[in-house]
Order: sequence, then structure tokens, then C-alpha cells
Amino acid sequence: MFEGFANVWTPVTLARRLKGSGPLAVTVAGERLVFFRDGTGKVSALLDRCPHRGVALSLGKVTKAGCLECPFHAWQFDGGGNAVHVPLNPDAKRERLFATALPAREIGGLLWVFTAATDQPEPAEPQVPDSLVRDDLARTFIEVEWAAHWTRAMENMLDSPHVPYVHATTIGRFVRPLLKSDSTMHVTWEDTSYGGRTTSWIDTENPASGALAYLDFYKPNVMVLNIPVPKQVFRMHAICVPVKADRVRMLVVGARSFARLSLLNPLFNASNMKIVKQDQAVVESSFPSEVPPAADEVSVRTDRATLQFRRYYFEELKPSSAPPRRHLRVA
Ligand code: FES
Ligand SMILES: [Fe+2]
Repeated sequence: MFEGFANVWTPVTLARRLKGSGPLAVTVAGERLVFFRDGTGKVSALLDRCPHRGVALSLGKVTKAGCLECPFHAWQFDGGGNAVHVPLNPDAKRERLFATALPAREIGGLLWVFTAATDQPEPAEPQVPDSLVRDDLARTFIEVEWAAHWTRAMENMLDSPHVPYVHATTIGRFVRPLLKSDSTMHVTWEDTSYGGRTTSWIDTENPASGALAYLDFYKPNVMVLNIPVPKQVFRMHAICVPVKADRVRMLVVGARSFARLSLLNPLFNASNMKIVKQDQAVVESSFPSEVPPAADEVSVRTDRATLQFRRYYFEELKPSSAPPRRHLRVA
């Protein structure tokens, strides 16, 4: 299960797609999942496959008590995957008839899942960028899909040297005046508890000035761009969710401490959408679609951050897979 993307917490979609109690079908790294709210309103996730005859549970309905009812024979499962009602079979041993549950959360307007169905204790909580949850920030949300492998999208998001070229008419227009034909871009990388931070500057611009853009990488697939605005917070979060080979779901969350009126959200969203479209064109054209080992492409000094990601991908993530355990009790 979750080949190449196992045993990690990942945002998977915008929480607002889960209408009422659900259900909502979402594919993540080749696995079909179904989200719904249990009786307490808490988000739950199961494999979207009834243990009885393999029917998609997402075609069923959520009962008043917050159980997911299969559309075929109306078995009902709670958020932990336990069969709580098996019609016409009052003598069935229900403890053997469970669906597969995964740890799920709703944080910062996003649905999250831990990519393993295991009967081990609950994993540690996800590491979440503070700007996804701070009360004093206004946020905007975009969800789109690209025809690309998620690793190319992720590297694009961690790549600073493309900004003045791909984004010449958007965020890159502030960088272009700094460029001379013999300019040097400096790119640093620092490992952090959550992944890493990369900072970049051009020529002699003083990196200690505080007016720098930096990118945070939260393993396995979250990028946070800090856009320097004096005394304000202005961030763009880009989350690259693998759907299946050559398909990535891009979640883009803008966060700002100024102009917080929700009336202005469409403006900020439109500007982020323009940036996303500029990236989409180049990312979808990449060949091969999945990032290859570093030795298969040529690289230069300014590729520092993307090479760091590539190492993480090939050493930790790509070899990962989760055993197809059938049951997990979640709290
Ligand atoms: S297939 Fe789901 S209850 Fe029979
Ligand atoms: Fe970009």
C-alpha cells in the first residue's frame, strides 16, 4: 500500500470538499480512501473498499449516528472501521468484519491522513506550519490537479532559480531588476526538525537584512514560501499530493496578516492561481515524469534544494511501502 509514499502524514484535499458528514472519495498515492464524519463530527478515513464484497463505501451514506453504510448490503462501519451493524445476520461475529481505517485529521482547512493502515499505536501528530493554523491570519485555498508526477511538482516548488523566468510577470517581476547577465544566485540549505529551509539571494544582497524570501520544506510534500513584506506575514503554502502516477493534486493555501477582509480573498486567490498555472506548464512537460536519480540529469550550484529533496525521496520515501493490514483501531 502507498508504494513510495508510505508511513507519512500528508494533507490530501481541502476540508470544505467534505460536505456535511460526507462521504467523500479521495485517491492518495494510488489508494482509494473515503472520508466521513463520525457521530462526534470528527473526521475519519477508511480504505474505500467494503471488506464484504469490495464495493466502494463512498457510494454509501453516513447514518445519523455517524457510521458509514455500504451501498450493497447496508453493513455499517464506525470511524475505526468496526462493523457496528450487519443486517440480516444478527449472529455474525462482527469483530471479524472490519473495514480498514487510517489515522485522519482536519487541520488548517485541510484533511490529513497517515499513509499506513497498521495496528501499531497511533503515529506522532503531523508537523504543521504555524501559518496554516494561526488565528491572526486570513487564508485562501486552491485545489487543482496537474498531469505530472508529484516529485516534479515538489521540486518545482523548492526551486528558486526559476522564479525570475517562469514567473516574470508575477512574483518574479520583483527579482528581475536585480538580474545582470553575470549575476550569481546564492542558495543555502539548512536541515530542520521538520525537513529543511532554503534561502536564496542574488549577488551581494545582504542575507542578514531579513528582507529575503525563504522556503520551508515540511516532509514529505509541503512547501511554505515566505514572501518578505515588512512587519507582516505573507506566505504561500504549496502541497503536492500524489494521486497516482502522472497525477498530482496541488493544494495552494495563501496566508496573510494584512488586508484580511474575506472580500479580498478572490484577489489573492486569482494571483496565486496565475502563479500555479505558470508552473503547471513547465512541470507537465518534464521528462521523465518522475524525478530520476540525480546522476541522470545535470545539475548546478543553484539546484541545492531540489537535490536535497531528491536525496530524501530516493533514500527514505521511494523505498517505503505499508503492509496491507486489514484493521486499525483509531482513538
Ligand atoms: S459489499 Fe458492503 S455490505 Fe456487502
Ligand atoms: Fe514556480
